[in-house]
Amino acid sequence: MTPLPAFHDDLDASLAELWRLLGEGARKAGSGFHTPALATVDAERRPQVRTVVLRAADRETGTLRFHCDRRSRKADEIAATGLAALHAYDRDTKIQIRVSGQARLHTDDALADAAWAGSMAMSRVCYGTVPAPGARIAAGDAYTLPEAEEAVALGRANFCAVQVRAEALEFLYLDRRGHRRAGFFRDGAGWDGRWLVP
Ligand SMILES: Cc1cc2nc3c(=O)[nH]c(=O)nc-3n(C[C@H](O)[C@H](O)[C@H](O)COP(=O)(O)O)c2cc1C
Repeated sequence: MTPLPAFHDDLDASLAELWRLLGEGARKAGSGFHTPALATVDAERRPQVRTVVLRAADRETGTLRFHCDRRSRKADEIAATGLAALHAYDRDTKIQIRVSGQARLHTDDALADAAWAGSMAMSRVCYGTVPAPGARIAAGDAYTLPEAEEAVALGRANFCAVQVRAEALEFLYLDRRGHRRAGFFRDGAGWDGRWLVP
């Protein structure tokens, strides 16, 4: 039988593993944490959820970043509420991570500029779509995308980086010998961790 992981009965190690996995998720397309689900609440107070690509996860500041079109519904919902949650489950590690906190749209500041500069050409093209994401169209192909060169100019105006400042984190590890669930709540510069019933 495989030995239990070092974080199994160690809260600090569970928190470290959570951030390690999120960091890996941001760097590696093959990671189970690369494409988390993003949850927001809409103007009718209905929950909305969709996939995003995790672009950065920083343990020091307790922040995550993803990118979206500022014309999108998710951008409207984040602007209105200032809140978001993210979730991912990785079958390989049998770990689920949940994050919730304050979310902020960055459209025209240094953070947005750096995120745009670090985006690949094929990602930039999507931000030049006409009409805007979510608009109703007469046929499935009744929208246009700019050429790659045009996208640099056209897409930037619609691009936005979203930073989520985590306030609560949850780490769930599934193991037949004993599941482990840990919650972490922002406490000053650190995290207040506690075991929870799985
Ligand atoms: C694998 C995958 C990755 C995606 N990544 C993003 C992303 O990083 N940002 C984004 O805005 N939408 C992304 N999408 C599309 C969203 O899931 C969603 O369909 C779209 O953005 C519209 O959402 P909204 O109307 O709630 O704004 C992705 C979808 C998939 C399937």
